[in-house]
Amino acid sequence: MAGLLEGKCALITGAGAGIGRGAALTFARHGAKVAVVDVAPETGEETARLIRAEGGEALFIKCNVALAADVKLMVDRVVSTFGRLDCAFNNAGVETSLLKLAEDTEENFDRLVAINLKGVWLCMKDEINQMLRQGGGGAIVNTASTAGLVGTELHAIYTATKHGVIGLTKTGAIEYAKNGIRINAVCPGGTETPMLQRLIPELKQRGRIMGAMTPLARTARPEEMGEAAAWLCSDRASFVTGHSLVADGGLTAR
Ligand SMILES: NC(=O)c1ccc[n+]([C@@H]2O[C@H](COP(=O)([O-])OP(=O)(O)OC[C@H]3O[C@@H](n4cnc5c(N)ncnc54)[C@H](O)[C@@H]3O)[C@@H](O)[C@H]2O)c1
Repeated sequence: MAGLLEGKCALITGAGAGIGRGAALTFARHGAKVAVVDVAPETGEETARLIRAEGGEALFIKCNVALAADVKLMVDRVVSTFGRLDCAFNNAGVETSLLKLAEDTEENFDRLVAINLKGVWLCMKDEINQMLRQGGGGAIVNTASTAGLVGTELHAIYTATKHGVIGLTKTGAIEYAKNGIRINAVCPGGTETPMLQRLIPELKQRGRIMGAMTPLARTARPEEMGEAAAWLCSDRASFVTGHSLVADGGLTAR
């Protein structure tokens, strides 16, 4: 049986670590050619090497998703290398330290909005324009969070950016449905990545806190988010658009 993404050309942002790296490996295992996009060249190159070591096809592209010129060059490079763009997983995002809303800083606000919200919009904009130019539709998945659905203590700015990502996802889905472009989001719960490790550095404490919050009583592996994004990008999800797929071990079901 052909892979879920056999023959598809995909780009994944934030693919140098965590969920993005897990997704890049997952997409490649499902048969996609993968553009590994990250602001950090060492870890991004390493993800591309890991894919090639498994026999997949990968290209690393350095790009800061908060910069319009970088994003434009990045999409151009994907197309000049692979010939087209079928799927995009806009996943790059950053966190802040844990602060109550009135204690946080303007600097944190501007940084999170620039990367988590404007970065997703800039990527969607150039990806959609490329998909319109080449014809034949496409699929875009954005990484939101459970913080895109509910309020999360000590994460006000992050939560606002993730609610915004869901707004971009729903509106884009409506506007480009007639062009065959499906746009969805994934909402991860606690996932074992460098980001979660920065937020809760100690392993036992991380397990205890996330386990208590999560009915499945564990954190997710990055590849589990990769599988959700791969399915949304695949033709098997052909009638799914404007959806936010919650992959949180039951965290928001309580
Ligand atoms: N880990 C979790 O528990 C969790 C839960 C919900 C949502 N998320 C979301 O999932 C996404 C990935 O998170 P993660 O945990 O893998 O994070 P991570 O910090 O482990 O990895 C993020 C990757 O994004 C890259 N990146 C950061 N800023 C960038 C920029 N401006 N341009 C390009 N690349 C950039 C980093 O270099 C890094 O390789 C984020 O959007 C995050 O908000 C994570």
